[in-house]
Amino acid sequence: MRGEYCIGGASLLSFVALLLLIFVHVGQINTSLVPHGIAMAKINTSGFGQALSDAILDSDQGMYTTNYTSPLGQQNGLRQIYEFGLYSYCAYVNSSAGTCTNHTIADKFEPFIAITSDMLANYSQYCDTMFANTTFINSSYLGYNSRVAYYFILIGTIFAAMALFTGVLRKALPFVISTASSIIAAISILIGAAIWTSIVKKCEGINTLDLLPLSGGVVSLNGVVSGMIVSYGNGIYLTWAAFACLAAAAVPYMVSCCTFRG
Ligand SMILES: *[C@@H]1O[C@H](CO)[C@@H](O)[C@H](O)[C@H]1NC(C)=O
Ligand SMILES: *[C@@H]1O[C@H](CO)[C@@H](O)[C@H](O)[C@H]1NC(C)=O
Ligand SMILES: *[C@@H]1O[C@H](CO)[C@@H](O)[C@H](O)[C@H]1NC(C)=O
Ligand SMILES: *[C@@H]1O[C@H](CO)[C@@H](O)[C@H](O)[C@H]1NC(C)=O
Repeated sequence: MRGEYCIGGASLLSFVALLLLIFVHVGQINTSLVPHGIAMAKINTSGFGQALSDAILDSDQGMYTTNYTSPLGQQNGLRQIYEFGLYSYCAYVNSSAGTCTNHTIADKFEPFIAITSDMLANYSQYCDTMFANTTFINSSYLGYNSRVAYYFILIGTIFAAMALFTGVLRKALPFVISTASSIIAAISILIGAAIWTSIVKKCEGINTLDLLPLSGGVVSLNGVVSGMIVSYGNGIYLTWAAFACLAAAAVPYMVSCCTFRG
């Protein structure tokens, strides 16, 4: 009867993993409570206006919008908080009010485009210079990697579901399938989580970026940091937790697979 406990534990772990991955998928698809709470990456731009006016002795008037319904990406003004999910990103003018982009399968994580496309052209042109040597501005690199990560997470989610559903059939062959599925799922989720962790980590370089080296004769002061703060979203932690559950589920599936021989 040990096998019963084994398969029960494996099913529970697969179920938890699947649930976590579903939460990851719904992150930022709209601004309601749960999707709002889940993101892969966050950018707080609150300090940027001040940093820009400190660095170039100009004012940041008209940089931010307070109209939380105005569409994104159309130079309608910067929002304070940008949160990126797997299918869209949302931007918020305060902790609760915001708007999201349309949904796209394998939406690219292109934070520099997201932010500068909300600014008026005279501000975004400064950004091209300021962020010139950062990974943050490298949208093709970030976009490509986030897409690859998305497909790994999608494959991982499908295999996690397969492990769960074949595991409850309690037959020898399905146990082989659920063992294999949980291993494939764990590896896919591991790769997806690692890619996301890596690209957000690289973007965090702008948190301490000095805005000083502005070219073109613009007057600047020493020691003005960008005022943009990139951080990991909890979606990345949920993805890592899903990986841990799937990896842990593979062991009891394997045991059941070897002990239940019909
Ligand atoms: C954004 O950063 C500012 C300081 O730059 C801080 O006061 C504010 O609480 C942050 N907002 C969020 C939602 O983290
Ligand atoms: C906010 O933006 C929306 C959409 O562009 C527009 O319809 C609305 O009039 C704006 N509200 C204000 C107060 O400007
Ligand atoms: C956020 O902004 C919206 C619209 O401007 C406002 O209705 C809401 O009360 C604000 N919420 C907070 C927590 O400040
Ligand atoms: C988003 O979807 C709406 C409705 O389907 C469409 O009118 C709008 O053009 C889309 N926006 C973008 C940026 O694709």
